[in-house]
Amino acid sequence: MNLLAVETSCDETSAAVIRDGTVLSNVVSSQIKLHAEYGGVVPELAAREHLRNFLPVAESALAKANISAKDLDAFAATQGPGLPTALLVGFKAMQSAAFALRKPFFGINHHEAHLYSPWIFGTPPRADYGSFQPNISLIVSGGHTMLVFVKARMRHKVLGGTIDDAAGECFDKSGKLMGLAYPAGPEIDRLAAQGNPDAYDFPRPLIHDANDDFSFSGLKTSVRYFLRDHPEILENGQKVRDLCASVQAAIIEVLVTKTLRAAKRLGVTCITASGGVTCNRGLRRELERACHRRGYTLRLAERSLCTDNAAMIGIVAEQKILAGAAPSGLNEEINPGWALA
Ligand code: KG4
Ligand code: ZN
Repeated sequence: MNLLAVETSCDETSAAVIRDGTVLSNVVSSQIKLHAEYGGVVPELAAREHLRNFLPVAESALAKANISAKDLDAFAATQGPGLPTALLVGFKAMQSAAFALRKPFFGINHHEAHLYSPWIFGTPPRADYGSFQPNISLIVSGGHTMLVFVKARMRHKVLGGTIDDAAGECFDKSGKLMGLAYPAGPEIDRLAAQGNPDAYDFPRPLIHDANDDFSFSGLKTSVRYFLRDHPEILENGQKVRDLCASVQAAIIEVLVTKTLRAAKRLGVTCITASGGVTCNRGLRRELERACHRRGYTLRLAERSLCTDNAAMIGIVAEQKILAGAAPSGLNEEINPGWALA
């Protein structure tokens, strides 16, 4: 079965061809440069850019997979959550393709797709469920920070999420206060590698709370007050590196501590992570250390699959088809606020 999946929920236009668990192609066109000058994703610009890029990206995914549209057996697209006008581009295009070719169409939850991206790996990338274990999945990006208990394939329960800013937002907003370009996460990661994480003390919000929720806006505010009181730090390269390392260490400690605590409480010995912030080298290293210490299995999404991509959408759609799920109706609409249960 050949399936064409697309993802246009935020600022990545992506199309992927999946055949029997293998990712034949996964083309991603990022709009980061477009939004950088505004310091964040501008929804209307994102939608227009998706419209411009969508067909070339889909065409390229088909060409790389070496198949033509008439060989496609099913279509899938992100249905939500996401920016409404951005979601509409991919969702309506795939619904229309399915209508024209009389094939089934599946609307997929973006976060459910993130839960399975850590299981896609190899060359060519394949969804490998042979080693699947019940897991605690950390989804951590610019828009979301959540912990999910994945009890079995296609069975999950959201344990908690952020009550204000996402972890990626905290990286980006803290970086902006330091004068770094948007998105600041990758630059903080780079600078932190040469900094002292113990140089400055920042709060670890909610770290001692027994629940699985997160809060990062207070941490960002403490960076603001810190820089108000110590503006001279920005004049000193090493102190900026120390500041980046200290802020990053605070974010990572909260993420790792709460993820591991949830696993212990639920008797789960496998951790997975995905989303843009999972690219962070410090987070990857600390999750590796913590899991190694406890003898847990760790599955981190490959870097290219941490950020938004259509391969993860297609992999979930394929699982739904194999499980006998009914296709989405052609009258279905996008669901921008679709919260994972
Ligand atoms: O998943 P993603 O591409 O988009 C959504 O937000 O949905 O994630 C982007 C976020 C941004 O906040 C960016 O700063 C952060 O991921 N990010 C990083 C790193 N790479 C991307 N944060 C910390 N370290 C990184 N290496
Ligand atoms: Zn995402």
